[in-house]
Amino acid sequence: MKMSRLHVKDFRNFKELNIEFANRLNIFIGDNGQGKSNLLEAIALLALNDSFRYADNDKLISIGQNSALVEGLLDRNGLDYKVKMQILKSRKNVTWNEKKVTQGNVREHFSCVVFSPESLSFIKEAHDERRTLIDEALVSIDPGSAHLVTDFRKALKTRNKVLKDYLTEESDKNTSLSVLESLNPLYLKLSAELTLRRIKLLKHMMSPIQEAMRAISKSPVDILVEYRISGTNYLDSAMSASFEKIYDALFQRQVELHVAELSSGTSLVGPHKHEIVFLYNQKDSRFYCSQGQQRALILSFKMAQIVYYQKVHEAYPILLLDDVLSELDFVKRGALIEFLQKIKTQIFLTTTDLHLPEELRMEESKVFVVKEGFIA
Ligand SMILES: Nc1ncnc2c1ncn2[C@@H]1O[C@H](COP(=O)(O)OP(=O)(O)OP(=O)(O)O)[C@@H](O)[C@H]1O
Ligand SMILES: [Mg+2]
Repeated sequence: MKMSRLHVKDFRNFKELNIEFANRLNIFIGDNGQGKSNLLEAIALLALNDSFRYADNDKLISIGQNSALVEGLLDRNGLDYKVKMQILKSRKNVTWNEKKVTQGNVREHFSCVVFSPESLSFIKEAHDERRTLIDEALVSIDPGSAHLVTDFRKALKTRNKVLKDYLTEESDKNTSLSVLESLNPLYLKLSAELTLRRIKLLKHMMSPIQEAMRAISKSPVDILVEYRISGTNYLDSAMSASFEKIYDALFQRQVELHVAELSSGTSLVGPHKHEIVFLYNQKDSRFYCSQGQQRALILSFKMAQIVYYQKVHEAYPILLLDDVLSELDFVKRGALIEFLQKIKTQIFLTTTDLHLPEELRMEESKVFVVKEGFIA
């Protein structure tokens, strides 16, 4: 899958723009604040539905306008597909070859992996960010998981509402307790299923992450990922995770924390509480790694995601790299370029640096100079 054309209208600082892309490498060059990341954001929006910069709809629409349009022409094995997104302040309307679709349908055909300065928060911040990282990777590799992620979030929201009602006596306490009891089996089922899929994904990705990290650091760095449920690491090689085992562990924990859940008015058991830790030479990367090491780690994760995606789908997702080269040291930059040369996918890259490394040269590439919302 490749994106051959992009059309945007009233999107961020672009009044209207039509671009024809190269099959392999597309570079957006320009000074700060000209619109380079905005273009990557437009491409990613079509694949992911959401902005990788966590922008609400009204931030995406040009100031003073009521709606924006982002349209991409995709090419898969010589066949054209048109994906179109109309962004209104209250919602996004997506069509695939002029037919209205949900984002799940788009993901089945069009996948992208993004590395941006925002990606660093996946390593730096609290566990919530890493859970999001894993769920995003899960949905990108297996679009069918999107329903599971959404259903779990809905069940959690409902369960939290019931617990809160119990606490604030918004409804009769006995009624709240019986609603809770009837909700629990579905909640635990969704929790166990999502947990199992996360664990399986991380197991598959572990050695690609280690390999990518070794390649990018050019040194024997030891990377381990831990998935902790109530302090137990389910990625430990001695641990065999099955649906039943996880369901039982969550059920047991829910019984133990029943009183605590009632008195806190919130769900204390489930995948929204699980901890994901990246260990860098046996130490928690969140507190131990330098900025550059954290950058290399998240880049390795993204590289591993691409490698694993290719293994499952026998095709590559497109790759969006926002401002990645400037922050990497010489060795890591060289290793990244080597990786980019190896993966046969379409790449979009932003940079402020007019002097691109020689090694980055590829056949079928284009350079776009971005200036004040135009391509110069
Ligand atoms: N909704 C909007 N309407 C109009 N302009 C916007 C909107 N949102 C952002 N902008 C403008 O877009 C520009 C930022 O674009 P972008 O983030 O793509 O910059 P960039 O070229 O990636 O810069 P850098 O090199 O600093 O990352 C800013 O000038 C900003 O004012
Ligand atoms: Mg930018």
